[in-house]
Amino acid sequence: MHTIATIPGDGIGQEVMPAAIDVLEAIDAEFEFVEGEAGEHVNDREGTPLPERTRELARDADATLFGAAGDLAADIILPLRGEVGSFANVRPARAYPGVDAVAPETDLTFVRENTQGVYAGIEADVTADTKTLTRVVTREASRKILEYGFEYAREHDAERVTVAHKANVMRKTDGLFVEVAEEVAAEYGMAYDEALIDALAMHLVARPEEYDVIITPNLAGDVLSDLAAGLVGGLGLLPSANVGDDNALFEPVHGSAPDIAGQGIANPTAMILSASMLLEHLGYDEQADDVESAVLDTLEEGPRTADLGGDASTEAFTEAVVDRL
Ligand code: NAI
Ligand code: MG
Repeated sequence: MHTIATIPGDGIGQEVMPAAIDVLEAIDAEFEFVEGEAGEHVNDREGTPLPERTRELARDADATLFGAAGDLAADIILPLRGEVGSFANVRPARAYPGVDAVAPETDLTFVRENTQGVYAGIEADVTADTKTLTRVVTREASRKILEYGFEYAREHDAERVTVAHKANVMRKTDGLFVEVAEEVAAEYGMAYDEALIDALAMHLVARPEEYDVIITPNLAGDVLSDLAAGLVGGLGLLPSANVGDDNALFEPVHGSAPDIAGQGIANPTAMILSASMLLEHLGYDEQADDVESAVLDTLEEGPRTADLGGDASTEAFTEAVVDRL
């Protein structure tokens, strides 16, 4: 039996986490849930928003579900991603039926390198008026993300794999990334295309339906995955995964939504789809598909939550999903 750490966090995290648990309890699989505390209320009480005992739960679990954080997000979610050894950030962007989308044909997934690049944290004060940043790209980390990306593409029968880079300017760092991409693609016997990051941004807006799996360096993936979220109707519906070697953390892309927190009206779609990604990660492929279908059917047929123009509560929407399971 797999153990799942659940960390609701702040704001609507507290409201959408029970929805994901209800759904996981409704499917044909048994899990042990262990709940971890994190968030502003914990910080007020204990002087840290992420106590060691919660880190330990995430470390020891087979996978973690995280709800949302508020203003202390950086002090909660970044260390938690570290605890699970996350090297890949996986962000599907899919236009859902019944949801207004700028580009309703969009159905693509970003696989973003999540440890290095310009986010390696190597900045320096040269003088008060000059600061520098070191961009780190290693063969090892590049290989890891590219192997993960090609594997992900293969498992999902992706029609196209795109490797994003800017090797024409960052010749050494992205040059290495591209070199490793060629090696890995050859090993997998898979075709792929390369895209310069700036041109890719334009193509994604103009013809998003042509893309399937896009493997990116860290910063580009951060920016472009939000761009894709805009194409499919905003951050509120999208799930994500942070994958490590033998652990992973799944979380909605949205934050704690203080403007609607406490009203029981948050849309649990992103949280439930994050649970679906968790299921797939743990090998429950069929159940993952079932959950996804139940969510998509509910979005299409209703009831819908207020953010999608409906009047269903978080609980009513979740019940409708559970009924379909
Ligand atoms: P947000 O994602 O919390 O909310 C943006 C807008 O989308 C709000 O109007 C909110 O009501 C709506 N929204 C988001 N999720 C929704 C859902 N499930 N159902 C219905 N409506 C939803 O982002 P915002 O307002 O920029 O940040 C609020 C707090 O969240 C800040 O303290 C920020 O630091 C934190 N944050 C945390 C993240 C995380 O935990 N990973 C990510 C983004 C923000
Ligand atoms: Mg971001």
